[in-house]
Amino acid sequence: MAKPIYLDHAATTPVEPEVVAAMLPYFAQEYGNPASVHRWGQCAEHALSSAREQIAGVLNCSADEIIFTACGSESDNLALRGAALAARAAGRGNHLIVSAVEHPAVLDTARQLRERHDFELSELPVDEHGLTSTEDLSAALRTDTVLVSIMYANNEIGVIAPIAALARAAHEKGALFHTDAVQAGSQLPLDVEALGVDMLSLGAHKFYGPKGVGLLYARRGTALQPAQTGGSQEAGRRAGTHNVPLIVGMAAALQLTEELRKQDCRNMKSQRDSLISAVLRSVPHSRLTGHPARRLPNSASFVFAGIDGNELLMHLDLAGVAASSGSACKTGSPEPSTVLRALGLPPRWALGSLRLSVGRHTESDDIEHTVSVLPDIIERMRAAGD
Ligand SMILES: Cc1ncc(COP(=O)(O)O)c(C=O)c1O
Repeated sequence: MAKPIYLDHAATTPVEPEVVAAMLPYFAQEYGNPASVHRWGQCAEHALSSAREQIAGVLNCSADEIIFTACGSESDNLALRGAALAARAAGRGNHLIVSAVEHPAVLDTARQLRERHDFELSELPVDEHGLTSTEDLSAALRTDTVLVSIMYANNEIGVIAPIAALARAAHEKGALFHTDAVQAGSQLPLDVEALGVDMLSLGAHKFYGPKGVGLLYARRGTALQPAQTGGSQEAGRRAGTHNVPLIVGMAAALQLTEELRKQDCRNMKSQRDSLISAVLRSVPHSRLTGHPARRLPNSASFVFAGIDGNELLMHLDLAGVAASSGSACKTGSPEPSTVLRALGLPPRWALGSLRLSVGRHTESDDIEHTVSVLPDIIERMRAAGD
């Protein structure tokens, strides 16, 4: 069988060897708890603060504005629940705004705040490309809006939101602005000052770092009710002994990604565009989802009329290509994804979605093989369905 091809970098990425090397000493040799006063503790504390400084350098923020978490989902949960409950406790208001195409880590948290904590929630519609307009945001903002959360780049269709403009609109009405940058982290600039955001979520496994670690940037002065109480780690905002090796790995991976960003994006864009043009040319009744230009350099996403997306994934896997239908979390679900429905796609199209996401180590042969097998697979599936 031919070499398996991994085109699912939006689901997760491989950990770079130098990142593994950076983490290794902190498992079995330098295993101290950063909270301990002795030399092992000091060594761990030093590694932790170096990692924090390194990350702050990439994000253009202060080290004390970084909160380490266990994943992007936890960062989103802390941002939404933490900021909403703290704002309410301060009597600042009761209204939240999210976009209709947020990852469930944001959308389900916002809906839980509505259902269990009596917040009012506006879910902003998106256009046919998945974009939220600043006009729609401005119209939805109220004097009692405490928090707006709109993702930087969408995980299913790769569309990139105009974060700086959206954040400005939120600030004009006095609301905090959070962005889920989990998908953007491997490709887009993360300067929080340029973006103008109050909070930003990242997860290391999307940028060639380890799974099980993430972070929330929270601008100094942003009040957050802790999701996890206990020890005083992370200035009381997230209790629990730090996972030093994974935090060190996240910092190394982010630094490397920042250094390689331009080159990675150039390569990935060219592969993405080859995929998009070959697929649209060779597969009848196919459409690109997301925006034709404002899209993540690594993301090619499609819908094919009359095709079962999950079945397509199985056929592709048999042909040596690992891909995804919408987000990894959606795989196995027979329902069209929330994102594709928000674009207004009818179920006949929305059920036949495919996301091909290239990565730092994707080669041109991988693209050629994929576009050589995909049209036949779809033709056979359609013929079998007739
Ligand atoms: C946009 C977005 N937000 C949040 C998450 C959740 O991140 P994690 O897997 O680190 O919990 C993902 C993961 O797919 C994502 O793509």
